[in-house]
Amino acid sequence: MKGCNVAIVGATGLVGQEFIKVLIQRNFPMNSIRLLASDRSAGKKLFVNHEEIEVKETAPESFEGMDIVLFSAGAEVSRYYSPIAAQSGAVVIDNSAAFRMMPTVPLVVPEVNSEDIKGHKGIIANPNCSTIQVVVALFPLHKVNPIKRIIVDTYQAVSGTGAVAVEELTTQARQVLEGQNTTPHVYPHQIAFNVLPEIDVFLDNGYTREEWKMVEETRKIMHTNDIDISATCARVPVFTGHSTAIHVEFSQQMSPEEAHCILAQTPGVKVLDDPAISLYPQPWSAVGTDEVFVGRIRRDASCSSGLVMWVVADNLRKGAALNAVQIAEEMVKRDWVCTGG
Ligand code: A2P
Repeated sequence: MKGCNVAIVGATGLVGQEFIKVLIQRNFPMNSIRLLASDRSAGKKLFVNHEEIEVKETAPESFEGMDIVLFSAGAEVSRYYSPIAAQSGAVVIDNSAAFRMMPTVPLVVPEVNSEDIKGHKGIIANPNCSTIQVVVALFPLHKVNPIKRIIVDTYQAVSGTGAVAVEELTTQARQVLEGQNTTPHVYPHQIAFNVLPEIDVFLDNGYTREEWKMVEETRKIMHTNDIDISATCARVPVFTGHSTAIHVEFSQQMSPEEAHCILAQTPGVKVLDDPAISLYPQPWSAVGTDEVFVGRIRRDASCSSGLVMWVVADNLRKGAALNAVQIAEEMVKRDWVCTGG
């Protein structure tokens, strides 16, 4: 059976750990796995399928013999090492924002645009976490009734920032409950018991870069510039699981029942929608799952051809590691990688 030599850059991080879990859980065909991180982690051992594997410091020669390299160590590391990995013959699947909007780099959510993978030149980009869950929920509706406008508000968990942010929320929550003062390090303000409408830097147009990523990436993945999009992205004191409130305007009217029916038949989507029993998606229950959960589907009272919905997914899985592994699976399935033996 064919198998791949896989390397993970950022293996000690939150998404890196999830890469390992997802690869094993999905029985991804691997001959070998190489765990890479910074010099701080060199020599550390991590378990992969009950086997201890030593983490190595990332270096230009780390990628020799690799078929697939999964990156989640920040944009700077990706910018430096991804071209080196690609040049050494591996296909890079990069979770950072470094290459997403480059015309030569496919930006892929397999449920939406898996065909784009084949145009890659060595690097494939994994989209922004919130964008992934939004397009998974909206694309099947767009296919039957083209979308004209999307307004999306996000409620994003701290694990999207990385391990340091999880630690900051834990520490601050304890400090607040014990009546102590908090000192923010990762975010500009206290995140515990607070909400921050600032993710990534502010741009000249008043949006944050995170919000603008949602605008640009959604259009690139869905192959259209005809959708008007506006986003507000907020960081909330939730460890894992991004929530999004989506207001979508279609070309023609679509009933909540029709949307429910389409989404209920969409692979990778699970509809949880029964207000009578308070059934709707929640980040707490999405943790560790693979689906994009959709609920609160209702008519938009402000727009005759509009719907409103609430969409939640595990940002470390479908929003990051799972989506990347699904891209790798798609390539293996089509014999676009690891064809050696
Ligand atoms: P390390 O643990 O050695 O610092 P998170 O997003 O959860 O904070 O994880 C970030 C990941 O990126 C970690 O695995 C971290 O490794 C890795 N990383 C950070 N800087 C570098 C670097 N210069 N080279 C390789 N990996 C890096």
